[in-house]
Amino acid sequence: MPPSSAGDPASRAAFLRAEIERHNHAYYVLDAPTIPDAEYDRLFRELQEIEATHPDLRTADSPTQRIGGAPLPEFRQVRHAVPMLSLNNAFSAEETEAFDRRCREGLGKENIDYACEPKYDGLAITLRYEQGVFVQGATRGDGFTGEDVTHNLRTVRNIPLRLTGNDVPDVLEVRGEVLMLRRDFERLNEHQRERGEKEFANPRNAAAGSLRQLDPRITARRPLRFFAYGVGELSAVSPAPTFHSEMMEKLAGWGFPVAKERDGVRGLAGLLDYYERIGADRRKLPYDIDGVVYKVDRIADQEMLGFVSRAPRFAIAHKFPAEEALTTVEAIDVQVGRTGAITPVARLAPVFVGGVTVTNATLHNEDEVRRKDVRVGDTVIVRRAGDVIPEVVAVVPERRPILAAEFVMPKLCPVCDSAIEKPEDEAIARCTGGLFCPAQRKQALLHFASRRAMDIEGLGEKLVDQLIDNAIVKTPADLYKLGLLALANLERMAEKSASNLLAAIEKSRQTTLARFIFALGIRNVGEATAKDLARHFGVLDKLMVADLAALQQVPDVGPVVAASIARFFAEHHNVEVIEQLRAAGVHWPEGEPAAVATSAISGKTFVLTGTLPILTREAAKELIEKRGGKVAASVSKKTDYVVAGTEAGSKLAKAQELGVTILDESQFMELLEQ
Ligand code: IVH
Repeated sequence: MPPSSAGDPASRAAFLRAEIERHNHAYYVLDAPTIPDAEYDRLFRELQEIEATHPDLRTADSPTQRIGGAPLPEFRQVRHAVPMLSLNNAFSAEETEAFDRRCREGLGKENIDYACEPKYDGLAITLRYEQGVFVQGATRGDGFTGEDVTHNLRTVRNIPLRLTGNDVPDVLEVRGEVLMLRRDFERLNEHQRERGEKEFANPRNAAAGSLRQLDPRITARRPLRFFAYGVGELSAVSPAPTFHSEMMEKLAGWGFPVAKERDGVRGLAGLLDYYERIGADRRKLPYDIDGVVYKVDRIADQEMLGFVSRAPRFAIAHKFPAEEALTTVEAIDVQVGRTGAITPVARLAPVFVGGVTVTNATLHNEDEVRRKDVRVGDTVIVRRAGDVIPEVVAVVPERRPILAAEFVMPKLCPVCDSAIEKPEDEAIARCTGGLFCPAQRKQALLHFASRRAMDIEGLGEKLVDQLIDNAIVKTPADLYKLGLLALANLERMAEKSASNLLAAIEKSRQTTLARFIFALGIRNVGEATAKDLARHFGVLDKLMVADLAALQQVPDVGPVVAASIARFFAEHHNVEVIEQLRAAGVHWPEGEPAAVATSAISGKTFVLTGTLPILTREAAKELIEKRGGKVAASVSKKTDYVVAGTEAGSKLAKAQELGVTILDESQFMELLEQ
C-alpha cells in the first residue's frame, strides 16, 4: 500500500486535500489538467466521506468547502488593512504620454521600465492569508471598508485555499479581480434560458451577481475565476522583491493565477505598443478587459512617486473605447431584408460606443424583443464589439418610464404594404411581397453585386437606392443594360465613377457557376451550398429542373434547403431573370456533374482551428471543398472532424467536449488520400 493510502484518517485526509488542490491548481490556474474527471471525483468523495465520519478533521482550507456552506443572514463589513484605491484613467496616447512624463520627472529618470497588464473587467477583491491559509476575502466597497464574502470566495476554484511554496509570508493580502470567462458566461446564460431564469447582460454582471449571494451554494455553481494583480498588507518576505513583476512571479509561485499577457516594456513607445498589441488581440482573450494597466516596475520608485488623493501616481489604466453604453430607445422600426425577413430595429439616441456613434441596434426578431422586453422610451445597454453590428443587450428596468410602449409587429410591410406573415414554428416574420417589394429588390441587388457573388465593385447602398427608387433597375439583369448616360444623371455620380462601375459590371459577365447560384439569393443557399450545388450538377439547367429527391442527393442539402431551391426555380419571374442574364452575356464554364463522390471527405463537415504546420487555412479549405466536404466556422454536434494546429483554443475544447474526432495535419492528409 503506498504511504498516501495509510490507514490513519488524519494523514489520509491531509494527503487527499493536498492532492485535490494540486489538481485544482493544474486545471484552473495552469490550464493543464492532470487527471481524468472521474478520478478527481473519486478523490473528492473519499475526502468528503472521511470528513463526514471524522468532523474534527474538517478544516477551513479543505477543498470540500468549495461547494458552499450554509447561507448567511447578511454580509459583514470588513475594514481593509491597506486601503483599496482606484486608478486614474488615460483615454488617449496624449494622456499616456503625460503619465510617462510625470513619472520621469518625479523620478528624475530618462526612461522608465513598466510592468503592463490587462485591465480585467470584473470586481475588485482582496484575499487575506495568515500562515499560508486563506482566512478572509472581501469586496472593495468604498476602498476602506468592504463586504466579507469569504464564504463565496472559498468556492472559486482557482483561489488557493492554502499557499504553495516554502517562502510563504505570515500575512499576505492579495488584490485582484473576480470575473467570468466569456465561454463560461455563454454556458451559464444557456442554462438560465433553459430553466426559464433571467439571463445576465454580460460576464461582469454575472460575476457580480454570483459573488454577492448570501447562499454560497449558489456561488459555488457559478463558474467564477480570480486573477491577481497586486498585494495589500504583506509581512516580510525574503528575498524581498525589487520589482512589481517579481512580486507577480512570487504570487504565481504561491499558487495564484496571474495574467499570461503581462509584459515588461520600456518607455512611452513600449506602453503604446503594448496597448496596440493587447487591443488587437482583445477578442482572443478568454475574458473581457476594458483596457490595460501600466505600473512603474521598480517598487522603490513606486513608493517615491506615491499617491495623489485616492490613486497612485505610479500606475494608470489606459482604457479601450467602451464596448457597452447606455442610451434610450426612441422608436422600434422594422427593416426588410433580402429574403423578406422583417427585423425589428431599435432607433437610439446617438451614443458613442466601440469607437463609433451608434443610432440603430438590431433586435433580431419579435421573440427577442419580447424576451428582452425592450420598449420605446426604455434605457438600454447597447453593445458594439469589434465589427459586430450593434445590439441591445438588456433593458435597465429601474429607468423605464411609466408609459413605455410595447413593440407591435406591423401587419403590413412598411415598404411595399404587402402582408407580413410569420409561420407558427418560425422565429422570423417575412414580407410576402417578394421581388415586388423594393426593399427586397434593393437587398437582392446588393447581394447579387457583393464580393463573394458577382463581385461588382462600386455598386453600393446609396447607388442601389437611387437605381431602384428611380426604376432604372428592376432586376439584376437590368444592370447589364446600363449606359453611361443613365448613370451620369444620378446624384453624386462623377463620370469617372460611372465608367468604373460600367467596367466592373462588364467584368462580372465572366463568372463561375457557384458564384452565379449564390448571387441568385435563393433562401437558405449560402456560399458553401452554392458551391456544393455547382459541383454536383455541373450545369445550371440540370439544377433548374432538379426535383426534391435529386436536390437531396447533394451533400448537406436536406428537405428545407431542397424545398427553397425548388420553389425558387418554380417562380416564373426567377427563370425569366436568369434567361435575361444569360442573354446579357453572363457566362461561366460549365462542367460535368460530379460523380457521386466516394472520398472519405465527401459530405463531411470540418472545422479548422489553430495554425497548421504546412497548410494555410485557405489551402486546407480548398482541399476539403474539392472533395465534396464542407468547412464550418464553429464546432457543433454536426461537425465530423476538427483539424487542429498549434494554439488551437476554444474550438478544440468544444470538440473534446462533444467527442468530435480531432485530427492533426498529418492525420488530415492521410484522410485526404483515402
Ligand atoms: S492595480 C492602487 N491592476 O481597476 C490601485 N487594477 O481603478 C491598484 N483592475 O477596481 C490597482 N485590472 O480592481 C490594477 N491589472 C490591474 C487591474 C486593476 C483591473 C481594477 C481594480 C480596480 C480598478 C482600479
